[in-house]
Amino acid sequence: MIVSASVSQSFASALATALDEPLAETSHERFPDGELQVSVPNFDAERAIVVCATTTSDAHIEALQLQDAVREAGASEVVTVIPYMGYARQDRAFEPGQPVSARAVARALSTGTDRVLTVNPHEESVSDFFDVPCATVDAAGRLADPLPTLDDPVFIAPDAGASGLADTARDAYGTGETDHFEKTRHSANDVELTPHEADVTNRDAVLVDDIIATGSTMAGAVSHLNDDAARVFVTCVHPVFAGTARTRLARAGVAAVYGTDTIERAESAVSAAPAVADALD
Ligand code: R5P
Repeated sequence: MIVSASVSQSFASALATALDEPLAETSHERFPDGELQVSVPNFDAERAIVVCATTTSDAHIEALQLQDAVREAGASEVVTVIPYMGYARQDRAFEPGQPVSARAVARALSTGTDRVLTVNPHEESVSDFFDVPCATVDAAGRLADPLPTLDDPVFIAPDAGASGLADTARDAYGTGETDHFEKTRHSANDVELTPHEADVTNRDAVLVDDIIATGSTMAGAVSHLNDDAARVFVTCVHPVFAGTARTRLARAGVAAVYGTDTIERAESAVSAAPAVADALD
């Protein structure tokens, strides 16, 4: 039985369809002091698949409560699907005195589950922070689905770390060159990109990354490409879209922005749930 947190209802419903499993009834309350209480009133299954993108502090609490609620209701196996793992980019202490936040939340989430699946974490190594088995799922191939028919496309990663995602998206689309920028981040909102190598003149460019957060990376890449490319499309697995990210992309001249439903946004043009379903079967 699939059990959805409030932030992951579309993803959980797509997962239920892909696995042909029922979707549990849930109810959400908030007490006058601000505390959450999530429950599963009629849960009745051996295996619970709790689905929760940990996008906020409340979402972390909701995931822990759902894990506990299904155990209380008799589940003998609890699988936790984290479509987007929040805090994953805090994967080390960058300054003395800082926490390894990804490890702290992974440990907490491990306490109520038998195993974890998460989609394209920023670094694969965060899966080692869980105290239970954690598998990672690559949903970059899904990003080819919403693209229109492209003219002589080039799939470009905004940094070397995302070049595998660009390869995967190109392979799923079926044709095209791949390339990547080199990126230096000076601050959250200040990113410097060195030019890519492929000639994009009069060709369609598709940028592929794991996350769009502030939009600094992608807006910078779009600005570079827009001088020569016919159209520039932006795709990402996790559409965080913090602050003015959408405005930055629009001002840079993007043709369209597509993400998956690991975080449920207006730009979630395709579901990553089938990729998770394949990994669960
Ligand atoms: C960093 O290496 C990631 O792959 C993304 O490029 C980054 O998190 C995007 O952040 P922003 O949208 O704030 O530039």
